Amino acid sequence: MHYESISAHQIMLEDSVRTRSYERAIQVVVKPGHRVLDFGCGTGILSFFASRAGAKIVHAVDRSGFTKVAKAIARKNGFHNIIFHHCEGDKLALDEPVDVIVSEWMGTFLFSEWMLPSLIRLRDRYLADGGVMVPEKIFLRAGLVCDDTLHNKLSFFRQKPYGIDFSLIEDWPFYQPFPIQFSGSQILPARADLGDVNLHTCKGEPDLLEGTVVADRNAPIYGLCGWFDVQLTGEMGFETGPEAPATHWKQLFFPLRKPFEVKEGNEIRIRIHFRREQRGEGTVWRWSISDGARTEEMDSFVHKAWLKLPDEIK
Ligand SMILES: C[S@@+](CC[C@H](N)C(=O)[O-])C[C@H]1O[C@@H](n2cnc3c(N)ncnc32)[C@H](O)[C@@H]1O
Repeated sequence: MHYESISAHQIMLEDSVRTRSYERAIQVVVKPGHRVLDFGCGTGILSFFASRAGAKIVHAVDRSGFTKVAKAIARKNGFHNIIFHHCEGDKLALDEPVDVIVSEWMGTFLFSEWMLPSLIRLRDRYLADGGVMVPEKIFLRAGLVCDDTLHNKLSFFRQKPYGIDFSLIEDWPFYQPFPIQFSGSQILPARADLGDVNLHTCKGEPDLLEGTVVADRNAPIYGLCGWFDVQLTGEMGFETGPEAPATHWKQLFFPLRKPFEVKEGNEIRIRIHFRREQRGEGTVWRWSISDGARTEEMDSFVHKAWLKLPDEIK
C-alpha cells in the first residue's frame, strides 16, 4: 500500500467492519486521563477515536508524509490533545510511558505489512505496566479450496494461448499467492487453526504456521485459503474469513499446481512458511498440504529464482 495516496486511506476507512470495530473497542479501553500511542496513524482516525473516548494525550506516529494532513484534520475537528510524530516507529522518542497502544498494523494474511516487529519494540519501550494493546490477539486460520474457478484461471498458459508453447512458464501462476474474497461454499467447512499472536507477550513474527483439518468429503483441493481473526479487546473484534462480512484484506489464496485429492475423514496437514526478502522481493512463501502418505509443496521463490539464473543455464 502507498500511504501517501488518498486511495489507500479511503479503502481502509470505507472498510466499516474494520473501522467501526476499532471505534467500539477504543471506546471501551480508553478511559479519561489515559495516555495513548497510535502506531501508524494514517489519517489519524484511531487517534480521533481515542481523543473522543477521553484520552488525556494521544501520540500519533506515522512515517508517511500523510501525517501533515492528519494533523490539519485534527485541528479542523477540534482535537487539540493529539501530538503527531512524523517518523519511523523505531525513531519515536517519548518522555513518558503510555496506558494504551492502538495500531492497525495487519496486512494481507496478517504479515505482509511488516509493522509487527516495530510495534513489539514500541510496546517494550513505552507500554506502562498493566497497559493495554489494541488489538490484543490475532488468530490465524486456513481452509481447503474445493472450487476450481481460480485453478482454471491460473491454467491460462497451459492452453497454449495464441498457438504459443508456454510450457516453460505454464506453472508459474500457481507459485504466487494472491488476495481474493472467497465465499464459504468455495472451501471445505473444516478450518485449520494455525496458531495465534498475543500482542502482550509475543517476541516476533512466527515464520511457520501449521495446522490440520479433517476433510468432510472426498474432494479435489485446488489450494489453501489463509486469513486472520482479530480480538481487539475481550469479546470485541472482527473476522476476515470467507464466511465473515467482507473486509479489504480478503483472504490469501495459496494455489496448488495440481488438484490434491482428499478423502472423507482424512486428516490433512497444512504448513505455511514465510520469509522476508531483504532485497526487494517482498515476502517469500512456501506452502504444503499432506495427508501423511502424499505431500504437495509449493514455493513462491521458484520463478523468481529462475529469473536470477545466469543466462547460459536457462
Ligand atoms: C494499515 S495503515 C493504518 C492507518 C490508520 N491507523 C487507519 O487505521 O486507517 C498503517 C500505517 O502505518 C504506517 N507505517 C507502517 N510502518 C511504519 C513504521 N515502521 N513507522 C511508522 N509508520 C509506519 C503507514 O504509513 C500507514 O499509514
